[in-house]
Parts: sequence; structure tokens; C-alpha cells
Amino acid sequence: MGYYDFFSLYYDRALEELYLPQREAAAEALKLEPSMTVLDLPCGTGQSFDWVVPAIGPTGRLIGVDLSAGMLKKASARAWSNDWSQVTTMSGDARTLSLADLSAAVGEPVQVDRLLIFLGMTVFPDWRDVFAHLWSLLAPGGRCVMVDCFKAKLGFQGRMVNLSARADIRRPAWEVLEAVAEGYERVDLPSRKEHGGTIWLASGDKPA
Ligand SMILES: C[S@@+](CC[C@H](N)C(=O)[O-])C[C@H]1O[C@@H](n2cnc3c(N)ncnc32)[C@H](O)[C@@H]1O
Repeated sequence: MGYYDFFSLYYDRALEELYLPQREAAAEALKLEPSMTVLDLPCGTGQSFDWVVPAIGPTGRLIGVDLSAGMLKKASARAWSNDWSQVTTMSGDARTLSLADLSAAVGEPVQVDRLLIFLGMTVFPDWRDVFAHLWSLLAPGGRCVMVDCFKAKLGFQGRMVNLSARADIRRPAWEVLEAVAEGYERVDLPSRKEHGGTIWLASGDKPA
């Protein structure tokens, strides 16, 4: 069992309440419209689904991808219990996932209109390369939103967050989006002591 498989057993109980306003802000920043296709990577237990699904409606598509079977099991259960037939969850590695993988999972060719990376950039290995790869999956004219935590100099709480999430919140991860996106913006979101640093949201569009 991998670390996040174990974490999945108490992830929602430990974290869901802590990120509600930030998930709402992310969904708003995605500028979602009915029928859009959204790639949520890493989707974890699907906590962002609650905010994305209503905005894309029954004709939209939300593909949640994660590497942890435990996290995916929770995400699938969330979709199933809410009767969200527009949600597909699949196992995939952010380093290697392809459009062909996504298309195979949903059973038809996929164009990614929106890319959501929520608490992923501080966890992915080789985060700069991983971002470049995920950006390549986004359709021209598509939009990317990232939310994560930053603390340049770790305090006790920051070290705890890094330890418990297997993360590195010292990464200035927004820089990779800033370098390639049109209409790039970064804002700080409400942050609590428990976050270990400042929660930020970065957004921008892929040139058409
Ligand atoms: C802190 S959790 C965030 C999950 C979710 N986005 C959320 O907001 O709750 C980080 C997630 O990244 C996943 N992950 C780590 N490395 C990955 C990779 N290379 N490819 C896909 N998922 C990965 C973990 O399994 C875990 O579910």
C-alpha cells in the first residue's frame, strides 16, 4: 500500500473542511461552461468534483486522474453516490498520461478544455517537467488553474504539512504557468495556520 492509499482512509475527514473556500475559488477561476471537458489531476478523493460538476452540467465531462488506488476508490464512490455519470476516474501518472489514455478511459476522443491542478504541484516529482507535460495535454485556448501552498522558510506547521502530504511547499510552482500562459494571474486565498503557508491560486490560458 502506497502512502496516499493509507492517507485516503482519513483524507476527507482531515482535510475536506480546510479547503472549501479555495475549491470554490478554483471552480470560479476555471470559468467553466456547460459541456466542457475538465481534467482534474491529481483528483485525490474527488473533493473538487462537488464544485466542478454543477458548472459543466450533465453534458460536460470531468476526468479525475490519480496515481493512488485508495484515493481513486474514494473519488469513484463520490461520483457514484452522487449519480454523476459525467465523471470518469482513472489511474494515471502525471508524468506519462496521454490524450490516448484519457480517450480510452471515456471511450471517445477527448479534448481537454480545462486543467485543474489542486494541491498537486507541491507533490509531483519533477514538477517543472510534469507541468510541461500536463500543459501539452490542454487544448489550445484552454485554461489552467492551480491551487497550492507556499512557504519560503518552513516553520513547524509547514514541516508538518510537508511530512503529512509528502509535499514540498517551498516550491514557487506558479512560475511554470506564469512562463507560458496568456492572461496569467496569481492571487492569495484565505489561509489558516493549519495550511502551513499561504494558499495561492494561479490561472491562465493556453494561447489558441
Ligand atoms: C495532496 S493530494 C491532493 C489531491 C486532490 N487534488 C485534492 O485537492 O484533495 C496529492 C495527490 O497527488 C497524487 N499524486 C502524486 N504523484 C502523482 C503522479 N505522479 N501522478 C498522479 N497523481 C499523483 C497523490 O496520489 C495524491 O492523491
